[in-house]
Amino acid sequence: MASSKLLTQPRWHRLLRRNLPNATRLFSDLPSQHPVSVPQPQIHVDPKSNNKFKTASSTPSSLNEAELAKFAAISDTWWDSEGPFKPLHKMNPTRLAFIRSTLCRHFRKDPLSARPFEGLKIIDVGCGGGILSEPLARMGATVTGIDAVEKNIKIARLHANLDPTTSNIEYCCTTAEKLVDEQRKFDAVIALEVIEHVADSAEFCKSLSALTAHEGATVVSTINRSMRSYATAIVAAEYLLHWLPKGTHQWSSFLTPEELTMILKRASIDVREMAGFVFNPITGRWSLSDDISVNYIAFGTKQTKEE
Ligand SMILES: C[S@@+](CC[C@H](N)C(=O)[O-])C[C@H]1O[C@@H](n2cnc3c(N)ncnc32)[C@H](O)[C@@H]1O
Repeated sequence: MASSKLLTQPRWHRLLRRNLPNATRLFSDLPSQHPVSVPQPQIHVDPKSNNKFKTASSTPSSLNEAELAKFAAISDTWWDSEGPFKPLHKMNPTRLAFIRSTLCRHFRKDPLSARPFEGLKIIDVGCGGGILSEPLARMGATVTGIDAVEKNIKIARLHANLDPTTSNIEYCCTTAEKLVDEQRKFDAVIALEVIEHVADSAEFCKSLSALTAHEGATVVSTINRSMRSYATAIVAAEYLLHWLPKGTHQWSSFLTPEELTMILKRASIDVREMAGFVFNPITGRWSLSDDISVNYIAFGTKQTKEE
């Protein structure tokens, strides 16, 4: 859980507040302001079958083919908790704690309920093998998971079908842009560890915003472009500890919290809370922190009706 320091001296808050008056809260228990109520080819995988069909699509701007190839190469390891996605498996409880807390506050849901997201439509953009989509579905959300890599979607579908509580997840090999074309809307749009792999982060944020319903929520996590992230997320994680395949991340593709807040703001999403993830090498666990110098997550809300 967040430390008491979080509630008193949020570093991200001081940094952002200089230029961004709407970025006003950290991971806290204060009430939120406003409760609420695709690549080529596009392949849908129906929850009850593995049938696919292709539709024509315009060229999506967020696709970075070199990045996608990296994920396609290791797609069969998504559910190996000791494999290349081990860091995401390890971070999952912590990022879910942030999502549960922020979404429950925003949508006036009971965070202590077993299924707090009942009644919410949530999209997991860049869902990979579904390691976030599945717990969201277990928490009661109606989940759509999309990914630009077809093999990821196949793995996600197969895995979700193993459990009746996740078998109704809608998985689709497509992009956020394609779903915008289809005028899809969601109460919450979540893109974790994806923005650093897309071709155009500002366009990607516009698509996330367009998928977010009026007064809905957008959650994005990524890695800060700091000296510490170069040392830890690249040198240590890829070259020393071999947590991730070498070349997984390009430091220049990382966004600072200020940059992310700004591009979300330009896309009509006001960042309202932010938290860092820090790794404790002794316990091997991640926890929420006000230290946003490496891994961080942002929660924002959309207040404009339509662009
Ligand atoms: C680091 S993984 C994160 C997976 C998942 N969000 C998680 O955190 O567990 C990044 C995922 O984003 C997908 N991806 C990258 N660019 C994308 C795009 N433009 N549209 C959809 N998915 C994309 C990749 O195929 C990959 O599965």
